Amino acid sequence: MRQPVVLITGGFGALGTAIAGQAEKNGAIAVRTGRQPGTGGLAHDVRDPKSWAAVVDEVLAEHGRLDGLVNAAGQFGGVPQDVLSASSEQWHELLDTHVVGTWLGCAEIIRRRPESLTSIVNVSSTAGQMATPGMVAYGAVKAAVAQLTRSIALHCARERLSVRCNAIAPALVDGGVRDDVLATVDSDPVRALSAYLSRVPLGRLVVLEEVAEAAHQLLFTGGASLTGQVLTVSGGLGLA
Ligand SMILES: NC(=O)c1ccc[n+]([C@@H]2O[C@H](COP(=O)([O-])OP(=O)(O)OC[C@H]3O[C@@H](n4cnc5c(N)ncnc54)[C@H](OP(=O)(O)O)[C@@H]3O)[C@@H](O)[C@H]2O)c1
Repeated sequence: MRQPVVLITGGFGALGTAIAGQAEKNGAIAVRTGRQPGTGGLAHDVRDPKSWAAVVDEVLAEHGRLDGLVNAAGQFGGVPQDVLSASSEQWHELLDTHVVGTWLGCAEIIRRRPESLTSIVNVSSTAGQMATPGMVAYGAVKAAVAQLTRSIALHCARERLSVRCNAIAPALVDGGVRDDVLATVDSDPVRALSAYLSRVPLGRLVVLEEVAEAAHQLLFTGGASLTGQVLTVSGGLGLA
């Protein structure tokens, strides 16, 4: 049997790297993309339809198949990003990358529909599931990614395309943008972390490998009926 091929945007970022590692550990070929790709990666701006077409062309020419897509490109958008201070530039940047970029990728591969294609995983966030007045644009675009995921899943199901579409919604992950995000809640980082963890039943931050495992399950091992779902990976944030 030929190795499945997974295209991972934001593939050189923290989560993209972990998802690529998980895919390779499970025998897949991970094709990583980014605006400044590392060795072996493909140059790609997810906001640009032509860039999507070129990347998919390249994957199909090189590997002859494409089994899965993970839309992990993104950014938090920086601070200040509260209700009164967020700028329209922040909004446009976040909307273009997370919402338009994710939609462009889903549409491109569904339109091209390589025979091997089975699964799409988008990256939402717990920030899209609860009010985030300190990161108003980021929370809104992550909610939009979850909604987009459901619409893509329903489209594929109705068209009998055998392509599943799901999303992961990680909570704050240990590493990366952690401190910037916490600063939207409290300027004292120790107090901010402690207040955040008091709302997480597991009492610790999520680690990258856990998010990557969840993404892999949605991508390949979760079963043929698993579509249109948003899998929260949060240590139980907000349960209590
Ligand atoms: N880290 C967390 O706590 C957390 C929690 C929940 C959800 N998430 C989400 O998980 C995803 C990955 O985040 P991360 O923590 O891995 O962040 P990261 O380390 O900053 O990685 C994001 C990657 O996306 C790339 N990117 C940004 N804009 C792009 C564009 N227009 N076209 C192509 N690539 C682009 C960035 O590279 P370049 O800028 O070089 O292109 C970067 O390598 C994001 O959607 C984020 O919102 C993260």
